[in-house]
Amino acid sequence: MQDLPYVLVTGGSRGIGREISKKLADEGKNIIIHYNRNSQEAEKVRDYCEGKGVKTLAVSADLSSVEGISVIRKFVQDNAGSLSGLVNAAGIYEGNQLNEITVEEWESVLSVNLMPVVFLTRELVPMLEKGRSPAVVNISSVLGLKNDIYGLSYQASKAAIIHISRSLAKALAPAIRVNSVSPGFIMTDMNRDGWEDSHFRGKVEKITPMGRWGKVEDIAEMVCFLLSDKASFITGSNFVVDGGISI
Ligand SMILES: NC(=O)c1ccc[n+]([C@@H]2O[C@H](COP(=O)([O-])OP(=O)(O)OC[C@H]3O[C@@H](n4cnc5c(N)ncnc54)[C@H](OP(=O)(O)O)[C@@H]3O)[C@@H](O)[C@H]2O)c1
Repeated sequence: MQDLPYVLVTGGSRGIGREISKKLADEGKNIIIHYNRNSQEAEKVRDYCEGKGVKTLAVSADLSSVEGISVIRKFVQDNAGSLSGLVNAAGIYEGNQLNEITVEEWESVLSVNLMPVVFLTRELVPMLEKGRSPAVVNISSVLGLKNDIYGLSYQASKAAIIHISRSLAKALAPAIRVNSVSPGFIMTDMNRDGWEDSHFRGKVEKITPMGRWGKVEDIAEMVCFLLSDKASFITGSNFVVDGGISI
């Protein structure tokens, strides 16, 4: 286990990224947990992964800037050397509609959600090429497929992730596979206000054919499958894990 390359999970401190990190550790993968500011939560994930006997590193970087991307590249280069996987899961949501949206919000959401998918991935290609059967998974959203009047910047970032993931799959084949995953409503801090509001919570259950909110485990299962050798012929695809809400 000690000689295996690492998997880097951005946004690994909370929500979907945290569950992906934990599941990868359950599978015996060495992990690099990335977080922005929440060192306490990152430490808890690190403790969990170390408890599984895998090598675990944690790195903090604000992904809204190119400087943050450089911090991660240098950290991976100095501490891990090679990667067998990259999960771009860090993200933010802003729910503004056309008459409310500002240029600042637009730039901030596209920077955090979309820029790393291109620029962090590019920085890490040499380390992925040194890893075993490397794969990248980018977390999009059903809102990258389905339109809404709210969250225009978020929708733009998530639609672009699906499109760009396909372009990167073509650019990096056959060495590195690239896919994206589009979750529906998942119970995390990102939409805590929503699932704690009984009216909204019920509304989501009603419009979701499977009749419930998604769990972080639902997404982690798919991501870990896409990172594994079981998915060795899958690249350039988007996988919708949404209980049917986008039908
Ligand atoms: N939850 C959903 O219903 C849902 C649905 C579809 C898609 N998604 C997508 O799934 C991904 C994970 O979402 P989540 O629900 O797990 O969110 P979450 O619980 O709010 O966690 C967000 C993660 O992103 C990190 N992050 C936030 N701002 C950052 C920044 N400026 N630079 C670097 N890292 C930053 C956070 O780090 P800190 O802990 O340090 O703050 C945290 O680890 C996102 O891309 C989201 O768009 C979520």
